[in-house]
Amino acid sequence: MPDHAPNQTEANRTHFNEAASSYNNKFEKTILQIIHEIQDRREWLGVDWVEDASEDESSTSNSKGASRAVRLLDYACGTGSVSRALAPYVSQCVGIDLTEGMAAEYNKSVENQGIPSSEMFARVGNLIDPSDPSPAAFTGPEFHDFDIAAVGLGFHHFDDPALAAKRLAERLKPGGVLFIVDFLPHEHHHHHAAEKSVTHMGFAETDIKRMFEEAGVGKDFDHVVVGKGIVFTDKSEGAKTMTRKVFMARGTKV
Ligand SMILES: C[S@@+](CC[C@H](N)C(=O)[O-])C[C@H]1O[C@@H](n2cnc3c(N)ncnc32)[C@H](O)[C@@H]1O
Repeated sequence: MPDHAPNQTEANRTHFNEAASSYNNKFEKTILQIIHEIQDRREWLGVDWVEDASEDESSTSNSKGASRAVRLLDYACGTGSVSRALAPYVSQCVGIDLTEGMAAEYNKSVENQGIPSSEMFARVGNLIDPSDPSPAAFTGPEFHDFDIAAVGLGFHHFDDPALAAKRLAERLKPGGVLFIVDFLPHEHHHHHAAEKSVTHMGFAETDIKRMFEEAGVGKDFDHVVVGKGIVFTDKSEGAKTMTRKVFMARGTKV
């Protein structure tokens, strides 16, 4: 059982709604580092990516030149770090986040970049509410049959990460990939701005592997530790930085 208060979702909602508008600015360097680390591992992720705009020039292609659908579900998308990392290699990014603030930031940056919302959009929602296995807003085809479902630094905020793995696996097409980026086990740090929204002090590889297997995405499971760790610099807290060991895990839906 999770060792935290039952209203965790509310704590997350409050914290991340408040954090949304300054998140990109505060964590700019961290976000760029994560994007870089994800892009370095795109072959390892094992998705049949859309390479680039020159792949196919047929008239049915979208603005990136992709004639083939390769779709990303970026769950707990925040302002969209994982989408930014993988957007060059997919035809569509669909973000879902618990908070209005984060979904609005995601959509604002899509609009600012002139990307059509049909190719990249975020919605507010919670796919991991135990009492609502199939939220009405997410029954449409645009929320199913993804080639890859990813959670970037969201798992340690969830009440039940194993349930999240299951719910996301359900949204993959057969052969689709579940991709998790999160922290390895670490000590508890006090007086951290996001403290109340954290439910898990990182994850061991064995626990993540079990979650993937139980969710039906254990095929070709792999787990890598990101070399030097990720440095979190929160500009609003002066020069204070924190380095965390980060893992990336992937598995294929059977
Ligand atoms: C640390 S941020 C990470 C954001 C982004 N994925 C990134 O890598 O920058 C965690 C995000 O998880 C979202 N979140 C927390 N609980 C959630 C839930 N149950 N369902 C969807 N999103 C959730 C928060 O609103 C927040 O945007």
